[in-house]
Amino acid sequence: MQCDYYDAGRCRSCSLIEQPYARQLADKQAACEELLAGFGGLTWLPPVASPQERFRNKAKMVAGGTVEAPTLGILDRDGLGVDLRGCGLHTDGLRAALPVLADFVTRARLTPYDVPTRRGELKHLLVTESPDGELMVRFVLRSEESLARIRKHLGWLHEALPQVVVVSANLQPEHKAVLEGEREILLSEATTLRMRVNGIDLHLRPQSFFQTNTAMAAELYRLGREWVGERAPETVWDLYCGVGGFALHVAAPGREVVGIEVSAEAIASAEQSRDELGLTGVRFEAGDAIAWATAREAPPDLVVVNPPRRGIGADLSRWLEESGVPGVLYSSCNAQTLARDLAEMPSLRPVRARLLDMFPNTGHYEVLVLLARG
Ligand SMILES: C[S@@+](CC[C@H](N)C(=O)[O-])C[C@H]1O[C@@H](n2cnc3c(N)ncnc32)[C@H](O)[C@@H]1O
Repeated sequence: MQCDYYDAGRCRSCSLIEQPYARQLADKQAACEELLAGFGGLTWLPPVASPQERFRNKAKMVAGGTVEAPTLGILDRDGLGVDLRGCGLHTDGLRAALPVLADFVTRARLTPYDVPTRRGELKHLLVTESPDGELMVRFVLRSEESLARIRKHLGWLHEALPQVVVVSANLQPEHKAVLEGEREILLSEATTLRMRVNGIDLHLRPQSFFQTNTAMAAELYRLGREWVGERAPETVWDLYCGVGGFALHVAAPGREVVGIEVSAEAIASAEQSRDELGLTGVRFEAGDAIAWATAREAPPDLVVVNPPRRGIGADLSRWLEESGVPGVLYSSCNAQTLARDLAEMPSLRPVRARLLDMFPNTGHYEVLVLLARG
């Protein structure tokens, strides 16, 4: 993949961009196999390749520059904006929307936040495109100062970008290098962006996690459904369930599924999808996955875990080890913490694994591992 920003030294995020894609994938597979080499008897399926460009459904743009000439991209070492609105990782819909959103910044007089002087209002612009081409736009702001102006110009935005469905403002008042704050103010009538994956409508609300590569997410959930289906469990837990991707895919007649997730917003989305699908055997609860699972007396027939990069950690690994649960499906975006967690569960043997290239041009990837007791 050729990228002008990379070639000009303006952005180096895609650290593997100069490697041919087949080599990137082979190296990731080799690195992952090496990390899990200590667990014998593991069958590897061939890695799932991703399109190398236009696969990212979410643009996380740092605002810089001035009201008249905003930059949307990253900050350089001096804290000044570098414009990357043509980034080739983003879907076509995101690429088409970003220049219009830059015009909106000027029109609504949203002063980009200036890190060196700590002045300005607009910190980030977070935009997600659904598989149907609809958009969620979030303005991450230092304060409420510009809210009225955003509201005033929303009509223009909807006319210029009719595919915008959800609009919100997120308040991040602190001078910290974090993407967003806790408080979200919804500015549109619609509350969720519909992310249709494998014919299932997942609902994304502003503060919920969604896998950033929709094609790989679809493959991940499809594999999850297939591998879980083979074991025909009557009861399943989906820990770290987000908006319910795994739980809703593995739901089946006669099967009880419980999804646990710390974000109440994500749980509301998962419940909405469940109700639309008319699934009676699925329920969701907001809470800490570790506290919830380790407080249960008996395990289900199968547990799905899909934690953040830090993994599931020692407490949950040990509980799974000692619980007698017959099967675990572990979806990991960090094979190092995965290998550490697996070492805590010697009775749960990894039997099958498959790498999915969720993050082309970087060293990161997703890996799905099926564990069976015995
Ligand atoms: C990698 S995402 C996976 C989400 C979901 N399985 C999916 O496919 O979209 C990890 C999720 O874990 C949630 N999370 C983080 N810490 C948690 C905790 N202690 N208990 C429950 N959920 C947690 C995050 O909010 C996020 O939704």
